[in-house]
Amino acid sequence: MKESIKNMKAYQAELPAEVVKAKYGLSHLARLSANESVYGPSPKVSQAIKTTADDILGYYPDGQATVLREAVAKHDQVAPDNLVFGVGADELIQLLTRTVLTPGANIIIPDPTFGEYAMHAQIEQADTKKIPVTLATGQVDFDAMLAAVDENTEMVWLANPNNPTGVFEKRTAILGFLEKLPKTVILVVDEAYYDFVDEPDATVAKDVKNYTNLVVLRTLSKAYGLANLRVGYGIMQEPLYGVMQAVRLPYNLNTYQIIGGTAAIKDQDYLNQVVTKTQVERKLFQTFLRDNNLTFYDSQTNFIWIKVGDTKKVGEYLLSQGYQVNDHLNSEWIRIALGTAEDNAGMREAILTVIK
Ligand SMILES: Cc1ncc(COP(=O)(O)O)c(C=O)c1O
Repeated sequence: MKESIKNMKAYQAELPAEVVKAKYGLSHLARLSANESVYGPSPKVSQAIKTTADDILGYYPDGQATVLREAVAKHDQVAPDNLVFGVGADELIQLLTRTVLTPGANIIIPDPTFGEYAMHAQIEQADTKKIPVTLATGQVDFDAMLAAVDENTEMVWLANPNNPTGVFEKRTAILGFLEKLPKTVILVVDEAYYDFVDEPDATVAKDVKNYTNLVVLRTLSKAYGLANLRVGYGIMQEPLYGVMQAVRLPYNLNTYQIIGGTAAIKDQDYLNQVVTKTQVERKLFQTFLRDNNLTFYDSQTNFIWIKVGDTKKVGEYLLSQGYQVNDHLNSEWIRIALGTAEDNAGMREAILTVIK
């Protein structure tokens, strides 16, 4: 076994709803711990899956995910042969790391950020340099990230907006950073929460054609409400594109993922409704936090990172009231995903009660 992963711990997955409900005697449990969409996907997704003929089952799926590729390329205005699909953005994170990193290399990430970048680096026997975000605002410290680059740096990861902070970086800031990065270092901009951003110029997807070392990740797990279907993609150009296509498993997406994902991308009216509802709820919640002098970072996502003091106490209390949030990322900050209007209102009351 690789020495570097001997002591790795398994991912702390959410407790099943029935277990939590039974433990706390709850009739309703709002799962707001994994940044899923409480609105679910467009009804057109299940329609498309249900009307798929059963005779596909005995044959391998389309390894190029052609219909999905065409739909995504059109929607994101990128070249079809710049798209690598995966079983969620998770698979792209794993594949990119596996493809790019060599033992003894290092990656640079902001801190805090999504845990999988460092986890996969560790599996590939690379080190991770964690650069704290600016404490007051949660913004990425680009100068410090750049200063951390050395001759062994092979990748830089940015989740934009970031998870768990929810903080958004402007395209101009990212491109300014990329311009200063050595061309041998791959910059991955993970735009899992891109759809929720209400600022203009929120993506660097269209800049991929200008940089061989820029990769953008997207997922249908968040705003599209398809966390269970497991569809994600990476936007990148040659030579990385060709190598990634060679490294990935040939049939990584099955036909239901391809057909369901395509239906989701094509129903932009539905997506826009979800995004609008989320933005309204986000504004309400942040106004509440501000009015009550709670410390939080300005979010551009479907979740908010809030400083509550004793995370375990607050998390446990919210759970006992039927609100399952993420209390295991930090000892002082919790991450709450935005739920329905009703659940959000209930959660606000519960927060006030527990922090009093
Ligand atoms: C920043 C970020 N990237 C990627 C993912 C993984 O998404 P997927 O469900 O597509 O694997 C998540 C999920 O929480 C995330 O927060």
